[in-house]
Amino acid sequence: MVKFKIPFQRFSKFFLKPIPHLTSTNCIGIDVGTSSIKIVELSKIGARVKLENYGETSILTLYKNPFRTFEKNTLLLSSSDIGKIISAILEEAAIRTKTAIFTIPDFSTFFTNIELPQMSKKELPNAVNFAAPQYIPLPLSEVVLDWQLIEGKAGGRSKTKLKILLVAVPHEVINQYRKIAEITKLETKFLEAEAFALLRSLTKTDKITIGLVEIGAQSATCSIVDSGVLKSSHSLNIAGNEMTQSLAKTFSLSYKDAEKLKKKRGISPLLKEVQEQEEDKAAKVILFSVDSILVEVQRIFNNFSRSGKKEVQKVILAGGSAQLPGIREYFSSVLKKEVEIINPFVNIFYPPILEETLKEISPGYAIALGAALRGLE
Ligand SMILES: Nc1ncnc2c1ncn2[C@@H]1O[C@H](COP(=O)(O)OP(=O)(O)OP(=O)(O)O)[C@@H](O)[C@H]1O
Ligand SMILES: [Mg+2]
Repeated sequence: MVKFKIPFQRFSKFFLKPIPHLTSTNCIGIDVGTSSIKIVELSKIGARVKLENYGETSILTLYKNPFRTFEKNTLLLSSSDIGKIISAILEEAAIRTKTAIFTIPDFSTFFTNIELPQMSKKELPNAVNFAAPQYIPLPLSEVVLDWQLIEGKAGGRSKTKLKILLVAVPHEVINQYRKIAEITKLETKFLEAEAFALLRSLTKTDKITIGLVEIGAQSATCSIVDSGVLKSSHSLNIAGNEMTQSLAKTFSLSYKDAEKLKKKRGISPLLKEVQEQEEDKAAKVILFSVDSILVEVQRIFNNFSRSGKKEVQKVILAGGSAQLPGIREYFSSVLKKEVEIINPFVNIFYPPILEETLKEISPGYAIALGAALRGLE
């Protein structure tokens, strides 16, 4: 029997339609990334979740410039182009399922932790709304706000403070996804922040504190998950693209060739005693970006342990860049913690022939998979 142990968190306000009932037993999860659009289709028969289809379209083959870039912490994407690409993928893969969950990138989602004094459950919603403007960099009228109590008990007798995870998504971003859904004729009842989809792809979260580091092409996200509950999430502006761009610049290579060089040996030459000089040089260039991510990750872990008196016990790497050769070992040696690469397909049924392929590509599919799982709940 397939069993997911994660206590799912529901952020219900991002629904595109008011009633979130899904009757279909098939669902597709769609992750619109900077380097590719990934789609995972799952089906559920009883308690058994099966992989029906998966695939991606690399945008390198379609565009010179990524259609998702940083600007005022929001998305700059061409909804109509994305819609057309998704429709083409669905047609090519003969996916007939119409129910889809899209994920909203973490860099256009504001995650903040706030602390409030002890109060009753009834008072809490107003208090959160009252405090929110101090923490959200956009006017409240421009965002959809949601929140969850992550520590403390409202209406409790003790004077312990209440810790809240506040999540805000700009209306503009939600509208862009609404357009994509219209173009693709997909039935998209709600959207989900990437961090929550990723959390659902974790298979063992019980009673430990996990540092979840997702490294994509344009951005990385460092989240802390304590006993299956998302405590905090931070988006970082460094990821795989920067590694490739530095290699291209240093060795005067095309972007394509620099990608190849990055994927071939990554930073593993630096972990070995005997190093070939050229590879060593390339690895050092890549390492510069990896170290910049690690500095931020360490800072986030330290802040968490200082404020909550809890240490991150284990680190899980996800995202396409988690496949960088040597990254797991390097993270482990610097952070002095157990480091694992996410394996989101572990509780999913799929043809055995896919075993090796899925193992290889799975870190990049964790978000799309988590979104599809949400649709099956
Ligand atoms: N084997 C590999 N070794 C090193 N890097 C890899 C490997 N495979 C993929 N990558 C890198 O992973 C990145 C893509 O990851 P992913 O698909 O998670 O990003 P994305 O979702 O498109 O981007 P973002 O989330 O930042 O918008 C690219 O930078 C790519 O070069
Ligand atoms: Mg991504």
